[in-house]
Amino acid sequence: MTVLVTGGTGFIGSHTVVELLKEKHNVIIMDNLCNSKLEALHRIEQISGQKVPFYQVDMLDKEGVTRIFEENKIDAVIHFAGLKAVGESVTIPLKYYHNNITGTLTLCEVMAQYGVKKIVFSSSATVYGMNNQPPYVEDMPTSATNPYGYTKVMLEQILTDLHTADPEWSVSLLRYFNPIGAHESGLIGEDPNGIPNNLLPYVSQVAIGKLPCLSVYGNDYDTPDGTGVRDYIHVVDLAKGHIKALNYLMGRTGVEIFNLGTGKGTSVLEIVAAFEKASGKKVNYKIVGRRAGDIASCYADASRAKKLLGWVAEKNIDDMCRDGWNFISKNPNGL
Ligand code: WQD
Repeated sequence: MTVLVTGGTGFIGSHTVVELLKEKHNVIIMDNLCNSKLEALHRIEQISGQKVPFYQVDMLDKEGVTRIFEENKIDAVIHFAGLKAVGESVTIPLKYYHNNITGTLTLCEVMAQYGVKKIVFSSSATVYGMNNQPPYVEDMPTSATNPYGYTKVMLEQILTDLHTADPEWSVSLLRYFNPIGAHESGLIGEDPNGIPNNLLPYVSQVAIGKLPCLSVYGNDYDTPDGTGVRDYIHVVDLAKGHIKALNYLMGRTGVEIFNLGTGKGTSVLEIVAAFEKASGKKVNYKIVGRRAGDIASCYADASRAKKLLGWVAEKNIDDMCRDGWNFISKNPNGL
């Protein structure tokens, strides 16, 4: 099958491309490189031993997107491209709504024009908002607390409405929990620009001495050790979930939502301890106030993905920290 992967040089996108190539799919990558580097493409090719057609195209560039569909017979799209920093989305909401919403509308218009009506969409557990209690189940009501989260809520609705209007569409909405870790080669991994917002890249940079100390955002939550609990999932498990979702939507139409998580919660301090064990390094930290918008606990009920996709996350926290440490110790300054 020929699959267009938007955002394919990003953290989850690059790992998914590697898995697609392993499954003998033909892959085309479209990425504007606003939050990733061309080196990721070279690393993907090094891991897979294959050249991968790459288009440096922004999803808002309708002519550029059209050219990709004109030049390639595409069977399905896995759509990762999008801005995803929660805090940043609060400061520049118009950029987030325009990029993520208008960009996806442009992509879907071109897909429909070329009769490509199969899409796996990168959604997020953030759509469960503040009013649901974990473990989260796919039919719970969605909401958001920031523009980034609202783009995911809205795009899930838009893709659902697209199928309602044209039942030939086949849509998989994948709600990621907290992806961490890296490919076992250490050639690709999480490589954020600037000071990391997320826990694991921050912990990693403290461990290699690039940052002095981790700020733990609150230890007064109603959790076993008072620090925030999340459902961390190995990025390779997450990538394999996309392959299962792609296979699921081929040969059928409709819209399906899947949680891609382990179903287990791990606290910030448990992550710190696991990373120290994996790296053999001390991770200095201090307890500070809660971060605005954070919730105490977030973890998945992953039974629907197991039942319908035959997918279960296989790697544990030690695997995630080992592989994450392997990547950053081989790439201390990123790709
Ligand atoms: C995890 C835990 C923090 C940093 C976000 C997005 C979500 C998805 C994943 C895109 C929390 C604590 C963190 C730090 C800390 N992104 N923490 N010190 O907030 O669960 O999810 O990223 O899809 O949509 O919302 O991930 O890694 O930022 O935080 O104590 O320096 O670590 O409070 O408990 P989060 P995170």
